Amino acid sequence: EKDLGADLRSVLITKQEIDARLAELAAKIDAGYEGKDLLLVGVLKGAVMVMADLARALATPVTMDWMAISSYGAGTQSSGVVRILKDLDTDIKDKHVLIVEDIIDSGLTLSWLLSNLGSREPASLEIMTLLRKPEAAKVDIDVKWVGFDIPSEFVVGYGLDYGEKYRNLPFIGTLAPHVYGG
Ligand code: PRP
Ligand code: MN
Ligand code: MG
Repeated sequence: EKDLGADLRSVLITKQEIDARLAELAAKIDAGYEGKDLLLVGVLKGAVMVMADLARALATPVTMDWMAISSYGAGTQSSGVVRILKDLDTDIKDKHVLIVEDIIDSGLTLSWLLSNLGSREPASLEIMTLLRKPEAAKVDIDVKWVGFDIPSEFVVGYGLDYGEKYRNLPFIGTLAPHVYGG
């Protein structure tokens, strides 16, 4: 395992725990989409790791597409005002779409994405997120599959960044307060 170094405070969720949970969720998702064509939509960049591992844990044949969106406004918090940096390559009308996210924090990003993708008339539209912070929610979102509910701490790794760093840690860690000036 990688050295925690001075920037991390603790390991919140190990790679083994992530793998085990993704296997459980993959079995449920397989059952939920039996006999259907499933399109996974990953939200760049945070969802890269969970998308790659979930897709390989599924028995269902899937197609994959990606969206890159950016919250306006500075800092580390999402503002809810979103702009598309890279749209889907494919038309999702009449497709079964599963959005794959790394984390739901305020919920503003997904709230916007749900209405944006929903307006394209998919056959179904659901969400799978690895992490969710229930205490940080500013909007209520109906999420079908959640990996872990976590406390409102600053987490990094397995796709999640702070200032674009730490995405390649194989586990979810909490950041030491000195790193973000806390
Ligand atoms: C992060 C995270 C989610 C979103 C959650 O993405 O990956 O997409 O914020 O926050 P919210 O629920 O408060 O809207 P970010 O905008 O940092 O982009 P990134 O995935 O490229 O890191
Ligand atoms: Mn993201
Ligand atoms: Mg980010």
